[in-house]
Amino acid sequence: MKITKICCIGAGYVGGPTMAVIAKKNPNIKVTIVDINEARIAAWNDEDVSNLPIYEPGLAEIVKETRGKNLFFTTAIDEAIKESEMIFISVNTPTKTYGKGKGMAADLKYVELCARNIAEVATTDKIVVEKSTLPVRTAQAIKSILHNTGSDVNFSILSNPEFLAEGTAIEDLLNPDRVLIGGESEAAIESLANVYGSWVPQDRILRTNVWSSELSKLTANAFLAQRISSINAISELCEHTEANVNEVAKAIGMDSRIGSKFLNASIGFGGSCFQKDILNLVYIARSYGLTEVADYWEQVIILNDHQKRRFSDNLISTLYNTVSGKKIAMLGWAFKKDTNDTRESAAIYVADHLLNEQANIAVYDPKVNEQKVLNDLNYLNTRSEDENKDLVTSFNNPYEATKDAHAVAIMTEWDEFKTYDWQKVYDQMKKPAFIFDGRNILDKSEMEAIGFEYSSIGK
Ligand code: UDX
Ligand code: ADP
Repeated sequence: MKITKICCIGAGYVGGPTMAVIAKKNPNIKVTIVDINEARIAAWNDEDVSNLPIYEPGLAEIVKETRGKNLFFTTAIDEAIKESEMIFISVNTPTKTYGKGKGMAADLKYVELCARNIAEVATTDKIVVEKSTLPVRTAQAIKSILHNTGSDVNFSILSNPEFLAEGTAIEDLLNPDRVLIGGESEAAIESLANVYGSWVPQDRILRTNVWSSELSKLTANAFLAQRISSINAISELCEHTEANVNEVAKAIGMDSRIGSKFLNASIGFGGSCFQKDILNLVYIARSYGLTEVADYWEQVIILNDHQKRRFSDNLISTLYNTVSGKKIAMLGWAFKKDTNDTRESAAIYVADHLLNEQANIAVYDPKVNEQKVLNDLNYLNTRSEDENKDLVTSFNNPYEATKDAHAVAIMTEWDEFKTYDWQKVYDQMKKPAFIFDGRNILDKSEMEAIGFEYSSIGK
């Protein structure tokens, strides 16, 4: 089928950038992104593209170029579904917070609602593409909903997992290592392969069955997260020996069988995918009775939680075992640089731990505002919203955030942190002035020359 109109349900971190790039590279395809969240759609339609709901380098330029030509944002979901030959499902699939599989399984209610929505309004044949990360065999559920509508509309289901990383989404989409398309119908697979084919070389478009495609996404994320937990485990050992984790990472990374990427020791991985996908994998393994397999992958999460905890414990013990009433400046709140996404960010958990010890937290992040910081903490439900508000303040300027602080904790590896006037920061802080570099981005000897008590991960 030649595709002329695409609809994407879900205008989030995945749907937004992916559709923007598809629209840019396929000027003859009309791409409509729909969402139930009116405020989000309004932000996508904002005249001033610096107000888009998602910050991603290069995204605003593409939206500016294509919006109103062949890229549209609307809340008119039914109309967009009706007119399109291909529908992407890009809604969120958070970890379940209730019932069976609570804290482990993916909550598929949003996906199911989409499938029901499509089933209800479709009058012509559709290719339905799962874009959200979904546990293995979700396609079966979508298929069963779509095929039991009683109408004679024909649905083909494809799995096309997203491998973009936030902060580099546009670059990853323009230049993917591979595009994975899983499906039963060869014709449907080729229709989607053609959409990507307008900029991705054919040999990078992998065709598999649906289940392999779904499981590959979980596996890729589990392997990447495992590398971070592995190097983080070694970072703790380095701190007890004379080894330096950066030197170890470099030495092992030069082994071409291991490779150099994803070996930065850190406060622990965050983001909407790693933890969720591994929990999913663990849940699936357990549900098949595969205890050893489940335990093996679960350890990646346990180590990640340990790393976050260890960072805050170390900060507290260094500050003479008490942070009560002390101002702790946290630089960075996003789960990594170049994004305004804070889902599962290590900063949230470190802050929560410090707040339990009655610290005052001052946050500065170039792309995250105070409301988001407070929402993230309130969501944990550890203390009342009023208490969070009393103890946490967010600043628009790093020098204000660090003024009179007892310690600075670096939570995100934003480039701008490297070029601050650290002498000025030092002069304005309480003494002794401590830096806890959770991302290993500052130079130890430079910081010590200024007068800071500097510590980082694994050194
Ligand atoms: C990830 C996958 O990379 C992507 O392919 C998938 O589609 C979605 O999940 P993302 O979560 O956007 O992407 O970011 P990623 O760059 O993978 O980083 C995840 C977390 O790991 C971040 O908190 C990051 O700071 C941390 N990290 C990454 C490290 O601590 N050390 C590293 O060496 C690399
Ligand atoms: P992701 O990182 O997976 O893109 P986001 O939370 O950023 O996740 O985006 C998912 C989007 O999907 C949200 O904007 C949400 O409002 C939207 N959404 C969820 N359920 C539906 C639905 N049934 N119909 C339309 N949009 C939906």
